[in-house]
Amino acid sequence: MNAETHVLSAPPEGAGPDWLIPQGWENYTAEEHGVWDALFARQAAMLPGRASKAFLHGLELLKLSDGGIPNFEDLSERLMRRTGWQVVAVPGLVPDDVFFDHLANRRFVSGNFIRRADQLDYLQEPDVFHDVFGHVPMLADPYFADYMEAYGRGGQRALKLGGLKNLARLYWYTVEFGLIEEEGDLRIYGAGIVSSKGESEFALDDPSPNRIGFDLKRVMRTEYRIDDYQQNYFVIPSFDALLRATVETDFAPLYAEIAAQPDIAIAEIVEGDRVITHGTQDYARAKGGVAVLA
Ligand code: PHE
Ligand code: FE
Repeated sequence: MNAETHVLSAPPEGAGPDWLIPQGWENYTAEEHGVWDALFARQAAMLPGRASKAFLHGLELLKLSDGGIPNFEDLSERLMRRTGWQVVAVPGLVPDDVFFDHLANRRFVSGNFIRRADQLDYLQEPDVFHDVFGHVPMLADPYFADYMEAYGRGGQRALKLGGLKNLARLYWYTVEFGLIEEEGDLRIYGAGIVSSKGESEFALDDPSPNRIGFDLKRVMRTEYRIDDYQQNYFVIPSFDALLRATVETDFAPLYAEIAAQPDIAIAEIVEGDRVITHGTQDYARAKGGVAVLA
């Protein structure tokens, strides 16, 4: 299973319109399991005291530390007992409507391939380590489990309402790069952070990025970068609060309202922000160049 060609425009051979494929767990080589183990050991050492309690708890409940790339069937069985979620395999990124349909039905789609041993630190596409280690522990949390399902339904709606760009920012700044405040300290829970050695330090300790209290509309107006560490992180007070702020809000009028307003640039601080850290942006500046925006 090589990691070069995973962005397809049609379902792969043998896959139905749902894009699902067998994980093919028995086909992983010893070397591939070894890549998982190396990544796992590195992140497991980083995360106590950094990752949210819910994430660490999920990691333990799901026995992701058993060694080797998890078998999705076993993993789904454990997850199903907790929150009714399953993990299913796809060959790479899937179209938005397919992705939303799976989420709305409590199926988390995961790439089945793993990065090569020389790509431990950086990979452009989500592989099984990012998808399973990064995302799946949070699906064992009852609030987060409901949030993800609701997001899937929200995605289906956004496709019809023309709100996809704004809704995608919510996913980015919560599911992928979210921070939470726990007992007065900041903790990471976003999959893009917890699965990255560099960003799991940077997001909490570096003086460069802004850290701002979560506000739904504000987040949905904020651009993000896909090519490097974030310049902004948004901090939620609890998963319960995130669930309520999103589920209890009708996004249709929000999309209309936001469409009439300018986007907020990546590192900008705006009126009304609850600024926890006003970042120096030294890291981003030292890297020079222009951020790649999504
Ligand atoms: N309430 C949102 C809507 O009306 C759906 C949603 C729920 C989106 C939870 C994200 C997260 O479209
Ligand atoms: Fe992800």
